[in-house]
Order: sequence, then structure tokens, then C-alpha cells
Amino acid sequence: MKVLRTVKEIRENLNNLRKEDKVISFVPTMGYLHEGHLSLIKYAKKNSDVCVVSIFVNPTQFGPNEDFNRYPRDEKRDLSLLESESCDFVFIPSSEEMYGNDYQTFVKVKKYSEILEGEFRPTHFEGVTTVVLKLFNIIQPNFAVFGQKDAQQAFIIKKMVNDLNIPVRIDVLPIVREVDGLAMSSRNVYLNEEERRQALALYKSIILAENLYKKGERNPIKIIQKVKELLSEYPLLKIDYVEIVDMETFDKANNMIDQKKYYLLLAVRAGNTRLIDNTILRV
Ligand code: PAF
Repeated sequence: MKVLRTVKEIRENLNNLRKEDKVISFVPTMGYLHEGHLSLIKYAKKNSDVCVVSIFVNPTQFGPNEDFNRYPRDEKRDLSLLESESCDFVFIPSSEEMYGNDYQTFVKVKKYSEILEGEFRPTHFEGVTTVVLKLFNIIQPNFAVFGQKDAQQAFIIKKMVNDLNIPVRIDVLPIVREVDGLAMSSRNVYLNEEERRQALALYKSIILAENLYKKGERNPIKIIQKVKELLSEYPLLKIDYVEIVDMETFDKANNMIDQKKYYLLLAVRAGNTRLIDNTILRV
């Protein structure tokens, strides 16, 4: 496994492999890897000749009062996990390497960056799409792998790729959960014992919504109401939003039909920690 820190080095290494027609996969991460990331890396590895993982805590996707400075970092542990997955290249640029000292260019997927997560994190997706586009330009992978946990992020990246004719395939893989159901996230380390216990309500909400849907409930307002009632039983949890959107368009669902698939999207704060989760509602 090669660890490279400059754009020049990673480009040189990958250019040679590209000339040999190797299929290059790419998994962008912000490090502090968990089983969710590893599931993406295993998939990337299995379906390509060369697997590239990036570790970069991207400053432009954090708001001024968000957790950029305290975001968990452990490069040594990440590298040993990547080594055991037989990852081929790890790209770990510095902020200077990515943004220099007079960075000016941003890309924004307008409408979809302003709804849901975007209402609570107004500059977040612009930072994500900018860094992901930069990483795509640097790595030039055949395909890149993202987790369904960040469903809106995956949707926005697919939209950017389509709108800007970027020659990369985007694969989205299912959420990986702890044994008790909590969706894996690097931010889970922020939770204290009681917050961690109450955070399970997100998974309980998902099961509740899935069961209502299975039993034939097709009114999104009723499902959302029941989920909000459940979450409100947990005093440490504060709801940012509970929404049901059409999976293809991210429009809020008015009535749900069996021919379509929907995301139930949850964003909840447990103390100072923001948790998101989702599930697909379908027949
Ligand atoms: O999902 C993440 O970890 C980040 O948003 C990403 C895609 C690596 C961009 O910084």
C-alpha cells in the first residue's frame, strides 16, 4: 500500500496504471474509519484492479460553528485498517495541498444543496461537491463509492456528475449498523453513555416507519407524525427534521405509490452531536 500526500505523486502513480487500462476505484473519506467505510472499500477492491482511498477532513464542508477542529482523527489506525483491506493507494493531502492560499472556485448543486441537510448546514454541500469534484479530477477513477447513510450527499454527487458530464460511475452501498442498530458514523464517538442509549431511537423510528409502510400506510404525514411521536419520548433528542422524499427526485412525497421508492430521512441532535439516518420505503 502506498501512502501519497501530493497531487503530483498520486497523479504520476495512477497515470501509469491508467495507461495499462486498469480499473481504478475510489472511496473518499474523512478518516476515522469504521465498518461502514470498510464495507465501501471491500466493494471497491473487489470490483477494480486498483483501489484508492482518500483521507481528508475537508474544512470547506464545515460551518463556522461546526466540529471541524474536534472532528476525530487517527491516521495511524486508519492506515493499519487500510493495510488489512489491501488498499492500493491512500491519498492524504494537507489543506494547503488541496486549497493553497488563494482558493476561489466552488461548485454547487443549487436546489438540492439548500433543502433538508442544507437548511441546517447552509454551506455544507457546496464544500462537499467542491472537494469531491477536485478529488475526482485528481484521481480520475472509473467509479467511486459512497454510503447510503449520507443519502442526500450521494444524490447531490450523482446530480453533479450528471450535470457536469464527469466520466465516473457513482455506486451507493447500504448503511452499516452497530449490532443494536445505530448507524455507524465517525461522530458516534462524541456521544456519552446516555446520549448513545437514546440515539437508538433513530433506528427504532426506522423500524416503526418500515412496519407502517409494510402494513399499507401510504400517507407520509401519518408516518412522519408517528416517527416524531416516538422520537419525542427521548428527552435528550431534538429533531431537526423527519421527511419522506421520492428517491429519484428528492421531492417531498405527497402521497406514496407502490411503483416508487422513498427515503425516510431523519436528522436529530443528541446533545451537541448531530445524527442522521435513513431507510428506503418500498414494497
Ligand atoms: O462523506 C464524507 O465522508 C465526506 O463528505 C466526503 C465525501 C469524503 C467529502 O469530504
